[in-house]
Amino acid sequence: MHALRAQLEADVCIVNGENVADGAGITGKLADKLLAAGADVITLGNHTYRRSGIGDYLARSDVVIRPANSGSWTPGHGLAVVRARNGVEVAVVSLMGQLFIDVPQSPWEIVDELVDEARSRAPVVVVDFHAEATSEKIAMARWLDGRVTAVIGTHTHVQTNDARILPGGTAAVTDAGMTGPHDSVIGVKADLAITRMRTRLPVRFEPADGGVRIEGVVVDCSDDGRATGIELLRVAL
Ligand SMILES: [Fe+2]
Repeated sequence: MHALRAQLEADVCIVNGENVADGAGITGKLADKLLAAGADVITLGNHTYRRSGIGDYLARSDVVIRPANSGSWTPGHGLAVVRARNGVEVAVVSLMGQLFIDVPQSPWEIVDELVDEARSRAPVVVVDFHAEATSEKIAMARWLDGRVTAVIGTHTHVQTNDARILPGGTAAVTDAGMTGPHDSVIGVKADLAITRMRTRLPVRFEPADGGVRIEGVVVDCSDDGRATGIELLRVAL
């Protein structure tokens, strides 16, 4: 990741790491590994608490964050503020969508307050909106247009071809894609996923290993947080 950062001249690097532990959840050890590899902030999602011990880790961490609407009793934080390499403060918000995901709280109920807090602490604000439905991700990006630097969709694993700057100056993409094995069904060995779908019998999923790619987006912005560009990133390994 350090080499890619250098190549892209990235001042800050945000990774959604909710499934780095063999396709389900994250451990403290793996989070530390991602941070050591060049990530500044790690966001999570609906699989945040799949691995034991991660709650204690999240309660202590300022840069590994889980969705802010994960419920008021779950350990961890939904907002991180870090200093980018060029000295600019960057706030990162993690939030889950409510369509087709079982969330304790509607993202719409808390997003304005969350964004206000983020903006009071940093000029650049990036929202990871971890959601299933394209409509909800587009709606959230539109709602936040002009108030944040970027709204980056995650969770569906398939990079969408709609990276754009919205009229108010916010960069948006419906899904940043998946870093992992693309010779698969969204990361799972294809035959296992197909068997479960066809037979409806329980099948233990295993991560695939072919066609590994890094996917994401590169956002350019001015120091005051207005987005000036967004490009899809897709690197075969
Ligand atoms: Fe997810």
